[in-house]
Order: sequence, then C-alpha cells, then structure tokens
Amino acid sequence: MTDNLEKTRVLSGMRPTGALHLGHLCGVLLNWKKLQQRHECFFFVADWHALTTDYAAPPGAAQTRETALAWLCAGVDPKRATIFAQSHVPAHAELCVLLSMICPLPWLLRLPTYKEQKDSPGRDLDTHGFLGYPLLQAADIFAYRAGAVPVGEDQLPHLEFARELARRFNHLYGRTESFRAAAKSALDSLDAGARKSLEACARRYRREGDADSLEAAMQLINESAAEKNKKKILRAHLLYDAEEIIPAPRAVLTEAPKLPGTDGRKMSKSYGNAVALFDSPEEVCGKLARMQTDPARKRREDPGDPEKCPAWDLHKIFSDKKKQAWAAEGCRAASIGCLECKSALAEGVNKTLAPIREAREKYDKPGTVEAILRKGARRARAETERTLAAVRRAMLLQTR
Ligand code: TRP
Ligand code: SF4
Repeated sequence: MTDNLEKTRVLSGMRPTGALHLGHLCGVLLNWKKLQQRHECFFFVADWHALTTDYAAPPGAAQTRETALAWLCAGVDPKRATIFAQSHVPAHAELCVLLSMICPLPWLLRLPTYKEQKDSPGRDLDTHGFLGYPLLQAADIFAYRAGAVPVGEDQLPHLEFARELARRFNHLYGRTESFRAAAKSALDSLDAGARKSLEACARRYRREGDADSLEAAMQLINESAAEKNKKKILRAHLLYDAEEIIPAPRAVLTEAPKLPGTDGRKMSKSYGNAVALFDSPEEVCGKLARMQTDPARKRREDPGDPEKCPAWDLHKIFSDKKKQAWAAEGCRAASIGCLECKSALAEGVNKTLAPIREAREKYDKPGTVEAILRKGARRARAETERTLAAVRRAMLLQTR
C-alpha cells in the first residue's frame, strides 16, 4: 500500500520464557536486528502477557531480565531500538481498559487461539485475562501507533482483530465536526473528476471492503492531493470516514526457516528439545550428538536421506555450502557416520553462538540489563503518553 514501510514504526513483544533458544534467534531476533537498522523499533518483554496463561506460576522478574539479556547478546541494540518491560509502562493497561469499552465480546470469543486453548489441560484459562489477551496486545500496539508488527503465523488473527478494533475506534471517536470540515475542504481542493472517482471508490471500499477500490483510491490520493496533510485527511476519510486517531497496524509475517529440536519436533522449551543461546559449546555438542537422524540409518553402512533427517534442517541454516554438500553426499553414500555429521553441524552452531556468548560478558553485569530496561521504559512512557492524551481527548475524558 501507499504508506512507506521505511518510515513505519515497528513494535513487537515476546513473553519472558526464560532460556531463549535457536528458534527465537532464527525466528525472531535476526529479524528484529534487521528491522532496527531501518526503522524506529520498540521491543518489549510481555510480562503481563505471561500472566494471562500462567497466573498460578508467574515467570518472575529474573526471566524478564534473562529474556532481555538474550536479546541484547544476540544483537538487539539499545541504541537503535527501545527495549523495555511491558509492566513498566502503565499506559498499556489504561489503553486496554478504554478499548475494553468498545471491544465486542464476540470478536474475542471467536479468535482461534482462544477457542483452541481455553480448555487445554494443566492450566486454567477460563479467565478474563486470557480471553482479553488479544485486546491487551492491541493496546500494546496502539499505544505506540505502530504501523508494522512482526509476528509469527499464529498471531495473524490477533493482528486482524487489532486492525478491526482500530477502525472501530476511529469510526466511533474520530467523526468530529472539525474532521468533517477538514475532509470537505481536502475533497474540495481536488479537481471534480478526481473527487468523483475518489468518492466512488471510498463508498465501494467502505460498503464491500473491496481491496481494488482501496488501492485505486489510495493511488488517486497520492497523485492528486497536493499537500501532505491533505493526503493524510483524505486517507482517513477513505479508511474510516473519520479521523485516524489510532492507525491500523500491519502484520509483517516473519519468514522463519524450519527449525527442529533434537527430537525432530519444532524446537520449543516446553518439549525439552532446544539448544539454548547460552548453552556451552560442550552442551551444544552433546545435545546435537543425541539429535534424531534419518531412522533408516540404523548402522553406519546404511545409506540415509538428508530430507528425512532433522539434523539436516539445521545444516541448511548453520553450515556453509561446502559442508552441506559434504554432509548430504556422505549421508546418501554412507561414507560418513551420523555422529561425524552432527559434530560438523555443532561446529557451525557454535560459531553462530560464539559472539552471543561473548556479548554476555558485556551485558551480564549487575544492573546493566536493569538500567537498559529502565531507560527504555522512560522512552516508552513518553511515547505512550502522547497516544493516551489523544485517546482520552477523543473519548471526552477530563484532561489532566
Ligand atoms: N502475544 C505475543 C506472543 O505471545 C507477544 C506479544 C504481546 C506481542 N504483545 C505484542 C507481539 C504486541 C507483537 C505485538 O508471542
Ligand atoms: Fe542426518 Fe547427517 Fe546422519 Fe544423514 S548423516 S542421517 S544428514 S545426521
């Protein structure tokens, strides 16, 4: 679409799950590192979110620290990105309360994560907190007026929910006299032809949600409106028929390579199959030595098929082309053993992890992570205060 991704503010959160592993590195952190080069980024430890599912066993402050420490060591840079803990920024909660007034219950009840997980054994998810967690997530995003939210596939319905909620908010609270006047004057500044097609596209888009009409209208606005401010007003007119108080955030799907754990299932702390970012070189070698391989290779002489071997999926990420060719050919010809193959893999993994371990000496000192989180929270609070001022005003609350 028309708005420039370059300038878009990025926000993402991660729950404090303790020891981060290769899955977090490849699936999330490498992507954050790339984003922080070109965007203004806010990354936070979602410690309230952790309570929505685990109130009976809160992860605790040490885990929040450990999570932030791993981000820092992996190269998320506090000079480029604002790094903080959710619970240090009360505006997330205030915005969540205000949004809860307009959030239709059925929107929450029909989200797939809720329906799938609410009756899962072992923990009680029959709580207001768990039902409302996507709403809290929307508040997280809206508090910064973030335009882009990098997430995994499982989070896409939550982002769609947030977009709908933003639209609802703007439509309810942005249809002010002053906006109507501004929209009219922006429309009047267009030539008659452009104005007519824009109105037609806007009607079609609002009535039928037709994406082509939206695209056409956006293009018209870009080409025909002279000033930046007029463009902004016309876009809000098109999207909400009201002022854009809360921009609808866009999901940026993180493309993550398939990353199996040592048992061949998806790498996850809860499966106990993960290689952690702070594992020692020996631990990495040991874990990978025990990793699942192609079950057809019972003996050293049995040829294998790398495509049936989870260790091969890791080779594709952590080994260079030469080593990959060596492993794949050696596997098919049974000219190498699995232990040999996996010890070569461990070398590559350890090479990736070496700078992360090294960075730990810099960051893992008493007070260092805490100071970074405190500074980040200060910046985050200042930013959220701007949004909340606009939201309070829009909802006709007493100014402070
Ligand atoms: N819900 C996300 C998860 O469990 C974490 C999260 C919380 C988040 N708030 C967010 C992600 C806002 C993106 C934006 O993985
Ligand atoms: Fe997997 Fe390597 Fe063994 Fe082949 S040789 S089955 S790729 S570990």
